[in-house]
Amino acid sequence: MKILGISGSPRQGGNTETLVRAVLEGAAARGCDTELVSLGGLQIGECLGCNQCADTFRCVLRDDMQRLYQKLEEADGLVLGSPTYFYQVTGLTKLFLDRLYAYEAFDEKDRSVWLSPNEVFGLKYAVTVAVCEQRDEADMGYTSIAMDRTLQAVGYRVVDSVKALRFFARGEARKDEEQLEKARRAGNRLADTLLLAQKVRQSR
Ligand SMILES: Cc1cc2nc3c(=O)[nH]c(=O)nc-3n(C[C@H](O)[C@H](O)[C@H](O)COP(=O)(O)O)c2cc1C
Repeated sequence: MKILGISGSPRQGGNTETLVRAVLEGAAARGCDTELVSLGGLQIGECLGCNQCADTFRCVLRDDMQRLYQKLEEADGLVLGSPTYFYQVTGLTKLFLDRLYAYEAFDEKDRSVWLSPNEVFGLKYAVTVAVCEQRDEADMGYTSIAMDRTLQAVGYRVVDSVKALRFFARGEARKDEEQLEKARRAGNRLADTLLLAQKVRQSR
């Protein structure tokens, strides 16, 4: 079982990366293969809304997202993290999320009829991680919901949505054993969900 971790923070070694890594550790402890990719420094262009993906479910833009599509397709699970930037995900994370539009299919006559190819070929599972500096969850704004709803739309069931408050300085999360343990437990749950899916599949 493969799990891909993606950090949407431009800050390498920051709190988001630390906590995404902790979720991956939790999954690795259950036997999953894991890989962490940071969006910082990658060339990910904005979705042009050209709709050329409508029939192929492939994006025509040639940039680093192509490598990520391949990794997403090879992975059974995804851990996606973003810091809160003004009550939202970072611009980097939004660029990534918008490019997942290639994984939606719409009825030609009625766009209210839609699904994700992932639902058809095999639902995937995810954990999201939102990180902010304030102590009130309201100050995270739409950070978790922007990730959770988008991933749900493209065929992921979000098994846990980790919310980490009060982290500001780079890597501060590394010193918070309680928060790290919460993140590891989310990784355990993601791996256990995949194991359960495997067991059900084998019972047929
Ligand atoms: C441009 C910018 C906007 C931010 N907006 C918010 C915010 O709306 N609410 C909040 O609690 N923290 C906000 N923060 C703080 C970050 O979410 C916080 O420092 C986080 O730990 C950064 O994660 P990282 O170490 O993974 O980059 C903001 C930081 C930056 C740079």
